[in-house]
This record gives sequence, C-alpha cells and structure tokens, in this order.
Amino acid sequence: MATERSEHRRASVVEEPERGAAAAPGATVDVARVRADFPILTRTVHGKPLVYLDNAATTQKPQSVLDAIARYFRETNANVHRGVHELSARATDQYEAARERVRRYFNAASTREIVFTRNATEGINLVAYSFVRPGLREGDEVLVSAMEHHSNIVPWQIVCDAAGARLRVAPIDDEGTLRLDELDRLIGPRTRIVAITHMSNALGTITPAREIVRIAKRKNVPVLLDASQAAYHMRVDVQALDCDFMVATGHKLYGPTGIGVLYGKESRLEGMPPFLGGGDMISSVTFEKSTWNVLPYKFEAGTPHIAGAIGLHAALDYIDAIGLDAIATHERDLTAYATRVLEAIPGIRLIGTSPEKSSIVSFVMDGVHPHDIGTIVDREGIAIRTGHHCAQPVMERFGVPATARASIAMYNTREEIDRLGRALETVREVFA
Ligand SMILES: Cc1ncc(COP(=O)(O)O)c(C=O)c1O
Repeated sequence: MATERSEHRRASVVEEPERGAAAAPGATVDVARVRADFPILTRTVHGKPLVYLDNAATTQKPQSVLDAIARYFRETNANVHRGVHELSARATDQYEAARERVRRYFNAASTREIVFTRNATEGINLVAYSFVRPGLREGDEVLVSAMEHHSNIVPWQIVCDAAGARLRVAPIDDEGTLRLDELDRLIGPRTRIVAITHMSNALGTITPAREIVRIAKRKNVPVLLDASQAAYHMRVDVQALDCDFMVATGHKLYGPTGIGVLYGKESRLEGMPPFLGGGDMISSVTFEKSTWNVLPYKFEAGTPHIAGAIGLHAALDYIDAIGLDAIATHERDLTAYATRVLEAIPGIRLIGTSPEKSSIVSFVMDGVHPHDIGTIVDREGIAIRTGHHCAQPVMERFGVPATARASIAMYNTREEIDRLGRALETVREVFA
C-alpha cells in the first residue's frame, strides 16, 4: 500500500523527492500529472469539463487520500486507544502516525502539541473557551483583523460578551493589506490575545505572521494564527513563527472534511482546562471528581475522526511530495495570470490587490450581481464562489455586499483561467 502512495508521488512531480522528504527546492508542478491524481477533475458539469476554482472553500482530493480512507475502513476499522485487540492497536497506530505526520508538516516540537479537532472553527473555539475565557475580565480586549473569517470573529465575540470584554479590530488598507502600525498601536495592556489570519479567504492577502508575533511578544501577548488558507499554499512552521496557537482544517489541505488541527505550545495547553468532557480525555472518573488525561488527549473527548486523521496523513504526504515551494510558485504565477485576464475585461473591479497575496481573485462586475455571475459561469462547468465568503466585515470594508471569487489550487491551469475569462465575457454580454 505504501507503494501505491509512492507511485502517486512519482506520478506528479518533475524532480522526484526522496521518500518521505519534501520535493527539492526549485521543482515545478507537473500540472497534467497532478490532475491525473484527482479523479473528480475528469468529470463534466452541465456537459462541460469541470473547471474547479472554488478551492478556498474546499479542495478536491487526490486518489491517495481516497485510497487511504477506503483502506482503513476495509482493513482496519476499530476504535482507538481502547482495545487490546489487533485491529484496535492498528487503528491507534495509524491515528497516532497521522498526528506525527501533522507535527512534522507544521514543525511542532512534539505530538503533545497537536490536537485533532473537527475543523479550524473548533480549534478557535477551543482556545477561546479554554485559554482566553477563564481569565477574561471586564475591560479586557481581544484583537483580530478586519479581514477575518467569521470563525475567527464570532467565538471571540461570544466570550467577550460573556465577560464584558471588547473585541478590537486592526484595520486593512484599500488594497487589503494589514496595517501593521495600527496592529501594534492596538495591542495594549488589556489585550489578552491577538487572533489573526495568515491568509485572507476573501482577499488572498498573506499577513506577515512572524512580524505580528514579534510585535505581540514584545508586549507579552499570545498569538493565535488562523492558517486555514495559508496551510495548503505555503509552509507554516509554528516554531519559526513562534505563535502560541495555530489552527488548520483538513478539507482545505486536500484531506477529508471533519478533521482539523489545533497546534498549541505545550506550556500553553498544559495550563488550560478541557474544552469538552467525555471518554478518552480523562485519566480517572468517580462521581465526586474526574482527572484529566495527558496532552493532547485532554482535548480530544469521545471517539475521534480516525479515518479523517488517516486521510489527512495521506493528504500531507501528497502535498509534500509535490512540494510547497513548487505549489506556491505555480499558484502565484496563475494568480498573476488570472489578475491580468480579469482586469482586461471591462467593468470588472478586483477586490483585494495587496502586493502580498496569492491564489484568490475576488471581483465585482458593474451592474451584475455576483450571484448572477456565479450562475452563468456554472452553466459553463466553472465552479467559483459568490457571496460574502463568511467574511461580511471585509465586504463592508470595501463597500460591496458580495463578490465573485476564483480561488486557485495546485491542479489549476492557464487554460482554465482562459475559460473563466471567456465565461465572464458572456456574462458581460448578457447584461450589456
Ligand atoms: C481563513 C479561514 N478561517 C477559518 C475557516 C473555517 O474553516 P472550517 O469551516 O473548516 O472550520 C475558513 C474556511 O473557509 C477560512 O477560510
């Protein structure tokens, strides 16, 4: 089975990486071969070959991920951490191997720092309720940025409301770049956490995470990094970034839905109470008192998404075999190309033009509602997202109710961008 996976690796990279290693720097993505690894990309939609440009919502899955999940259910399926029987021991081994794979992907110091969650949203809620809420007092502050996903706004609002604390917002400029000077100014003696995105899902802006952590650390304020978007486009090294917490979500990392990752520095996680109670997260239970399991199990109540973790393991193997450097180069090139194609169409205005951006092109078209754009291009087999992208405050910042968004992944091509361009010309003609 390992052979099957390594065959997939070999199928898709120009410079073959060593087994288990990341692809060599300078390797390029062989897009045609990568595409052959994703079965869904061969299907048609409304009779046209699918062009999938909704990757910021969720990415498609390579065959190796589909195989890993099916193989687990076919050959191993059992509950983890509980049984002495062979299948349970194997399921536990595979689940824990996935944790080690995630640790390596994000370069955490220890698997004790890797908590499996349902998704990024759950990770942020876990930190809000178990790390921030217990010490949060009236007048305290939580700092986010103006381009957060609702997942990195609403949990903080809930805990702030309960404690009489205040949610503060670091602004962005007209291009969608974070105002670092303002962020610095807004971190004060009452700031309890800075919770900030590493890459905006609505604009594509990449934030200078290392610099943000440095600024916050100077004032002794912990940082949670929302790497939901960044993690499948670029290397996120939690030790190099020195963030206290980081969340990511499996379904954007070419893995399955229902599995996410919370990284927390061991010293932080140790001091936190459990988030959810139940099986697995305890060390002992009596009716009088329960005691908690060691890290990371203290934060994993109940039967986890075992197949999800195993699928994520295969997905991270796949990404590293292609190589994040190669992926980032390909996606930046395609983002620049898409920008040129869209800017050439009269009436289109891009939302989010930060010099530090990638993989996302958000736009509006004069006189046409984004939903109409989405519907017309869908008839051409092209999947883009329209709406507020779970980032309503960003829409408000740019004075639009919604945008259309094309978001790029490693398997997209210039030909697909050209098809989007032609479909948008059709939209323009329809509404002329
Ligand atoms: C920047 C960002 N943060 C958080 C999330 C939430 O991810 P999930 O719904 O998987 O928890 C998303 C998903 O779109 C996102 O783009």
